Amino acid sequence: MITFDEQQKVFNLSNSSISYLFSIEEGGLLSHLYYGPTIRGYHGERFYPRVDRGFSGNLPNSMDRTYSKDDLLQEYSGNNTGDFRLPAVVIKTKNGARMTDFRYHSYKIIDGKPKLDGLPQSYVESDQEAQTLEVTLRDDVIKADLVLTYTIYRDRPVITRNARVINRSDDAFYVEKLASMQLDLTKQDYDLVYLPGQYGVERQTRRKSIDQGIFEMSSRRGASSHHMNPFAAIVDKNTDEFHGNVMATLLVYSGNFKISLESDQIDQIRLLAGINDDNFSWKLNPGESFQTPEAINVYSTKGLNGMTKVFHHLLRERVARGKWRDRQRPIIINNWEATEMNFDAAKLEQIVEEAKPLGIEMFVLDDGWFGHRNDDNSSLGDWYVNTKKIDLHKVANQTHDAGMKFGLWFEPEMISKDSDLYKAHPDYVLHEPGRGMTLARNQLVLDFSRPEVVDNIFNQICKILDDVDIDYIKWDCNRNLTEVYSAAYPANQEGEIAHRHILGVYSLMERLIERYPDILFESCSGGGGRDDAGLLYYMPQCWPSDNTDANERLRIQEGTSLVYPMSSVTGHVSAVPNGHTARITSFKMRGDVAMSSTFGYELDPGALTDAEKAQVKEQVAFYKKHRQLVQFGNFYRLQSAFTGNHVAWEFVSPDKSEALLFMYRKLSSVRYEIVNTKMYALDPDKNYQDSVTGKVYGGDELMNVGLFRDPTHKGDFISEVHYFKEVK
Ligand code: DGJ
Repeated sequence: MITFDEQQKVFNLSNSSISYLFSIEEGGLLSHLYYGPTIRGYHGERFYPRVDRGFSGNLPNSMDRTYSKDDLLQEYSGNNTGDFRLPAVVIKTKNGARMTDFRYHSYKIIDGKPKLDGLPQSYVESDQEAQTLEVTLRDDVIKADLVLTYTIYRDRPVITRNARVINRSDDAFYVEKLASMQLDLTKQDYDLVYLPGQYGVERQTRRKSIDQGIFEMSSRRGASSHHMNPFAAIVDKNTDEFHGNVMATLLVYSGNFKISLESDQIDQIRLLAGINDDNFSWKLNPGESFQTPEAINVYSTKGLNGMTKVFHHLLRERVARGKWRDRQRPIIINNWEATEMNFDAAKLEQIVEEAKPLGIEMFVLDDGWFGHRNDDNSSLGDWYVNTKKIDLHKVANQTHDAGMKFGLWFEPEMISKDSDLYKAHPDYVLHEPGRGMTLARNQLVLDFSRPEVVDNIFNQICKILDDVDIDYIKWDCNRNLTEVYSAAYPANQEGEIAHRHILGVYSLMERLIERYPDILFESCSGGGGRDDAGLLYYMPQCWPSDNTDANERLRIQEGTSLVYPMSSVTGHVSAVPNGHTARITSFKMRGDVAMSSTFGYELDPGALTDAEKAQVKEQVAFYKKHRQLVQFGNFYRLQSAFTGNHVAWEFVSPDKSEALLFMYRKLSSVRYEIVNTKMYALDPDKNYQDSVTGKVYGGDELMNVGLFRDPTHKGDFISEVHYFKEVK
């Protein structure tokens, strides 16, 4: 998969679908050559056309006025040494300089994919699955090495990247920026697709043209955030869901990140992705190294649906881990929207008793069971049962006796001022002595850069998990980081705390999943505030939004689906009027939206009418029958929730023997719109029977002729679901 042409000095990373090429140019600069569909060989355009460009400098000691770092497509550019575009690496040395100029030194090709210590990452199950190139560059003035790592998967259009800098000098220096990757591209008419949002409105797919200047997608919240997902895709102008080229980048990281897109003086593109360098500075002592998180790069020639398919498979099969990775996920009932923290033992028992005959498989007890917590003003950090409120053994036993699994909510990274932990260890909080601490939801953030703080929480959680039979954990995180400062570190290391904090979070998760391999973990951060590939490495599910309004969920789930596999996207039916929007949607619509993800309920089953209970039974039975297809099939967006009134999504089994088609209409109109939905990725030669009408259609027919919806169907927020099964 990876070769080096000694004569042309070209590295070629190719598999059957993609090629990625770069060369070693004069002076040892690494120059990007090509990224796209596989080419059989490379014969030529080795030298990028060179121009003597005004105000673009040349290499020291070189008389060649056409050779400039400022317009060369580079693999990883330095700072303040001739490339005026955004740098990938900035290092502050003893003399105060921030210059970096790394030149080629050596390379190594390795079978498989080396592990990154303490960081989430994609992995291989055998060395045949991938090959890795490590290119070492050196800056002789700083006396530092830079290792750029590229892994190409054999059977996927995927290249992962990361970077590591090693201090080979006798003095400490400060890494102020180290991108996980850089991608420089020749001028072309591209668009950018990305996923901005906010609390309750996460991952809203947006597309914009790319113009000269810099556009930044980032987070400085200490979390990947609701507000911007660590994902970006550069697409051809004519790319849509089904056609066209896509170059997508996803950071496997849950902390402060920055993805910058620069279009330079001649409209060349530079994409940089990595830890956010704002407020970042990492002291590197002689002999030490600093490792960046990983970036996953996906290339699709089949539009955005093509990209999605690659991400879904990779994240599900080679980022998510553990016993639950390939297992069908249980149908949950969570008490949060039903009771919030106002519950007692009798109420919980009633929820379990009502849920059991409906076929629901797991009861999750959300916030409010610990310390003396009855509202969100206290007790975070006190992970022991509020025995005045409930007997947790009893709740777990009742749930298990009902034949259901039992899940519990934690928010391990947080602390309330009103808690025993705070009384004992006020210094455990991220804060700067002498400065007021910003409150959010009336809580503070524990300093997870300190191992003893992580140990304290680990021990408390283990005590509960060793004592009570728990099958599932919902891991919440309800505020962002402020006053990021740690009493445990010296002044010259305070720029490390945000990253050290997230490494502490990862270490706690790793210890817990290792010790409790049977537990199913679901991440959450006030909904989807940390829905990223980093957390997926530890937890195969994520609650994508607190917003359970079926209409709003269409966009949230569709945006999330761009990258994250449907087995990881959870969706619950809640009561109406919706708590966030006050919108009323039908029980069927709510069920059909939630069933197009990993399904559950978040309501009081005792408040359901008999007719609604009957619907729950039907939904549960339908979902159990089809969940393998929803959670592990291929997902396609046919008609988008972002652009129209009519939405359609499809799941197809890997062998194309069955498919599920979910169709939604937002608003009704007397126009009686005629809507035709063409299915996708079926086998044209197979025949399929529609479970709703009993009619048999050819796959070719469903894909080319399509299906009509009933235009006379009245009412807002309606849905139709068709299951297609191959018939001979
Ligand atoms: C925010 C979560 O997203 C909700 O689902 C719920 O768990 C609350 N936190 C509990 O405080």
